[in-house]
Amino acid sequence: MRKTIVRLAALAACIVFSGSSYAKGKVNADRALAHAARQYLYMKNELKADNRFPKTYDKHMQQLKTSTSEWWCSGFYPGTLFYLYEATGNRELYDEAVRMLKWLEPEQYNVDTHDVGFMMGCSFGNACRIAPRPEYKEILVNSARSLISRFNPVVGCIKSHNRKPGDFVVIIDNMMNLELLFRAFRETGDSTFYTIAVKHADTTLKNHFRTDNSLYHGLNYDPETGKIKHYQAGQGFSEKSAWARGQAWGLYGYTMMYRFTGDRKYLDRAVGVAEFILNHPRMPKDRVPYWDYDAPGIPDALRDASAAVIDCSGLLELCRYVPEKQAVKYFQEAERMLQTLSSPTYTAEAGTNGGFILKHSVGNIPSGTEVDVPLTYADYYYVEALCRYKSLIDN
Ligand code: GLY
Repeated sequence: MRKTIVRLAALAACIVFSGSSYAKGKVNADRALAHAARQYLYMKNELKADNRFPKTYDKHMQQLKTSTSEWWCSGFYPGTLFYLYEATGNRELYDEAVRMLKWLEPEQYNVDTHDVGFMMGCSFGNACRIAPRPEYKEILVNSARSLISRFNPVVGCIKSHNRKPGDFVVIIDNMMNLELLFRAFRETGDSTFYTIAVKHADTTLKNHFRTDNSLYHGLNYDPETGKIKHYQAGQGFSEKSAWARGQAWGLYGYTMMYRFTGDRKYLDRAVGVAEFILNHPRMPKDRVPYWDYDAPGIPDALRDASAAVIDCSGLLELCRYVPEKQAVKYFQEAERMLQTLSSPTYTAEAGTNGGFILKHSVGNIPSGTEVDVPLTYADYYYVEALCRYKSLIDN
């Protein structure tokens, strides 16, 4: 299997289109990344070097909200700093990221959440990519072991939420955590990691999608039989609606599955989700979706910048795996998203917004939390998208 991964990486490198296939970039990615780096240095000073991780900013109280390392988003701050260090070469960003890794380390043994993939993959994963160290690799493998402790072979999935004993809730977001398992497989050669990632993705492929390629946010399985007990609205408007960030996790997650396995069915599904969102009659012209494609009150419903950036970064990978005409379309759609997101409507002015780069994300409307605020994962996938965009333009 290791050979398959190497072959796929080579294939991906060959099918990246030359810069000439894309129009000259319309987004000044260098400028956007330089601004983002300045914001994160400002945020670093606001944090005052303790063990708290940025979460969001309360503009009414003018207060940075923070969390401990246990919050599912703790890895995004160091992860963003690593991307910004790579983009700008500013060592202060790198040093701050490494400082935060120390506080994240205990999460490698956290078996209480599926989000250990986000927490450790986005932080230690990027650290390892930039400057591999044996201790980083060990932490990533331990984290992957924690993640697979939640796998149930009868259901064929890793459990997302801890509920009562007869419940086994799996949410689409969990697709994103599978990348950690491929990393662990690469480090150890232990095919258990690979097999579980594929099984989870296959079960989700079978059960989470509707015929129009839209997605349910959550499913509750019977852990004894593997049967679906019911569908859940989760963070979406209803169980029948298309929650914008859920669609984005699906697009990104199945594109990533294709990267690691080369299995065409994953690529087809990623394309299916991309076509669903891009052709949706309620996708706005500026390409930042409403928080749910079926949200009440459209066109006055809130937009979700976090869904847009995950879509954008996903499309900038997906465009590398599809025929040229389709690739150009996905690239241009992603570019349109970046144009909107890098405008003053979404990008905060220097020294405001608690140091967050983007404004106007939606965490969880049904529970009334993090509504129309900056969020760490919006910043993370925005910076990742800018880096991906830049590498396509520069090639
Ligand atoms: N993974 C949780 C969310 O997308 O809000």
